[in-house]
Amino acid sequence: MTPMTMTSLLTTTTSAPITALLTISASTNPAALPYDPCYNYTVLDDLRRATNNQLQSSYYAQYTSKLLCDTDVNWVGWYRLFIRGQSVQMPDTCVDQLSCGTHAPLWLNGAHPRIEDGVVTRSVCGHWGNNCCGFQSNPIKVKACPGGYYVYEFVRPTGCYLAYCADVRNISISNHTVTPEPTLAAPAIFYLFGSAAGDTNNTAVEDGSSSVIQLLSPFLFFGRTYQQIYVNNNGHLTFNQASNEYIPYSFPARGSQDIIAGLWTDLDNRPRGVVSYHQYTSGNVLTRATRDINTHFPNLYFTASWVFVATWNKVAYYALTSTETSFQVVLISGSNFSFILMNYGDIAVTEHPVQAGYDTVSSTHYFVIPESINGSFISNLRNSSNGNVPGRWAFRVDGGSKSNKEYITGLQAKLSSFSDLTDTGNIQIVLQQIKQELVKYGLPNSIELTLRNVQKIKP
Ligand SMILES: *[C@@H]1O[C@H](CO)[C@@H](O)[C@H](O)[C@H]1NC(C)=O
Ligand SMILES: *[C@@H]1O[C@H](CO)[C@@H](O)[C@H](O)[C@H]1NC(C)=O
Ligand SMILES: *[C@@H]1O[C@H](CO)[C@@H](O)[C@H](O)[C@H]1NC(C)=O
Ligand SMILES: *[C@@H]1O[C@H](CO)[C@@H](O)[C@H](O)[C@H]1NC(C)=O
Ligand SMILES: *[C@@H]1O[C@H](CO)[C@@H](O)[C@H](O)[C@H]1NC(C)=O
Ligand SMILES: *[C@@H]1O[C@H](CO)[C@@H](O)[C@H](O)[C@H]1NC(C)=O
Ligand SMILES: *[C@@H]1O[C@H](CO)[C@@H](O)[C@H](O)[C@H]1NC(C)=O
Repeated sequence: MTPMTMTSLLTTTTSAPITALLTISASTNPAALPYDPCYNYTVLDDLRRATNNQLQSSYYAQYTSKLLCDTDVNWVGWYRLFIRGQSVQMPDTCVDQLSCGTHAPLWLNGAHPRIEDGVVTRSVCGHWGNNCCGFQSNPIKVKACPGGYYVYEFVRPTGCYLAYCADVRNISISNHTVTPEPTLAAPAIFYLFGSAAGDTNNTAVEDGSSSVIQLLSPFLFFGRTYQQIYVNNNGHLTFNQASNEYIPYSFPARGSQDIIAGLWTDLDNRPRGVVSYHQYTSGNVLTRATRDINTHFPNLYFTASWVFVATWNKVAYYALTSTETSFQVVLISGSNFSFILMNYGDIAVTEHPVQAGYDTVSSTHYFVIPESINGSFISNLRNSSNGNVPGRWAFRVDGGSKSNKEYITGLQAKLSSFSDLTDTGNIQIVLQQIKQELVKYGLPNSIELTLRNVQKIKP
C-alpha cells in the first residue's frame, strides 16, 4: 500500500497533506489460514529406519536390494517419523554407519528447533568411511510442533545408499503395534463411534433422549460450567434437562437455555439409525482432538484432556422412514478451553424445519450454520466449513475474551492523506479501504482491522 494509493482513495477535505503512521491489528478466523505442516504431514513408520537396525557387514555387501536408498523415494511435502506407532525424531548427533537399514545413515547436522523458531533449514550428514559427515547430503527443512514432535520436509539425498534415520536410542520400542492415526488429509472426518468405540446407544424412542450423562470433566460453555449433559434424539444437546422438542426455534432465541444443535429437526431413530455417545479422558481420541483443534485454532497450543462424541448415524426423519442423516457433535476441552466440532456426513433434504449451531441463555452467544436454515439445502452441510475441512464446523465456546480471534497481526503503514487522520471517522474510512485491499489479495472477508495507534509524523 503506497501513500499514493491511499491519497487517491481519500476525499480531499484539507489543503495540506498529513502523513501519519498507523499501527493496525488484524484479526481473522484462523481456520481460514493455510495449513501448517505440523498438521499436514505424511506418517513415515518404517522399522528399518530405526537407529538400532544395524546391518551385519557380511550382509550389507551381498544384499544391496534390501538396503534403503532414499533417492528412490518420491518425497512430497512434510513427514513425521514414527517407529511402531511411537512418535520419534531424526537423530541430531552422529549415528553408527551401517545402521538405519542403509550404508550411510542420514542424521540432522544441527540441533532441532524450538517451536518459536518456526521452520528452519538444517544440513544433513551421512556417516561413512568413519567420518560422521562422510556424505554431505541435501539440506532439509524442520519444524517443531505443539505436542512435542517434529516434522521434516525430506528431499532426495545425494545418492545411494543413504537413508533418513529414526532415532530410537532414547525410547523403548514395544512389540505392540500401534497403527498411526491418519493425518487430516484422510477423508473420514468422523471420530470413531458405534460399537467399535464402545458407545452407549440412546433408546429407539420417538423424541427420546439419553439419560442424564455425568461429565467426567466439567464443560465450560460461554461462562457457565456444566457437569452433565443430555443427548436428544432430535439432533441437539442440552445441559439442564432432556428435551423432546422436535421443532427447532431459530437462533438467537433470547431464551433460557444453553443448547448445542448438531442438526435440530424431527429425527426418528425407531425405523432407522442409531444415536450414540461416548466420553474419553485418555487415548488416541485425545491426540486426534488436540490435532484438530490446533489445526483450526493454530496459536492456542491446546492440549485436549476430555472429549465427548455424540453421533447420529443414518437416522431417519420422522415420517420419512427411508431417509438417512449422519452427523456428529464433538465436545472437546482442556485447561479452561472448550470447543465444539460439528461433523456432517450425508444429510438428507427435508421439509421439516431445521437449525444447526448453538445458542445460549439470553443469546449472549449464538451461531447459525448458514447451510442449515432451509431444509432444502442442508445436504450442503457435507461440504461446507468454517475451516479447510469440508463437512466440519469448529467453534471455540469457553467464552474466553479472545475467542475465535486469536490471530493478531501487526501492520504499520505510512500514509499521506489530505484528510485529517487523527479524526476517528476518517480513520474508519481508511481501515475499510485497507481491508478491501487485503481481501482483494486473498484474506477472508471476516478480517477485522482495529487501529492500535496513530502517530502524526509531519504537519
Ligand atoms: C498438504 O501437503 C501436501 C503435500 O505437500 C500438499 O499437496 C497439500 O496441498 C497440503 N494440503 C493443504 C490443505 O495445504
Ligand atoms: C536422551 O535422553 C537424555 C536424558 O533425557 C538426553 O540428555 C539426551 O539428549 C537424549 N538423546 C537424544 C538423542 O534424544
Ligand atoms: C519382541 O519380539 C521379538 C521377536 O518376535 C522377541 O524376540 C522379543 O522378545 C519381543 N520383545 C518383547 C519385549 O516382547
Ligand atoms: C447399539 O446399537 C447397535 C445397532 O443396533 C448395536 O449393534 C450395538 O450392539 C448397540 N450397542 C449397545 C451397547 O447396545
Ligand atoms: C482455569 O481458570 C480458573 C479460574 O479462572 C483458574 O483458577 C485456573 O488456574 C485455570 N486453570 C488452568 C489449567 O488454566
Ligand atoms: C427453502 O427453499 C425453497 C427452495 O428455494 C423455498 O421454496 C422455500 O420457501 C424455502 N423455505 C424457507 C423457510 O425459506
Ligand atoms: C455440496 O454437496 C451437495 C450435496 O452432496 C452437492 O449437491 C453440491 O454440489 C456440493 N457443493 C459443492 C460446492 O461441492
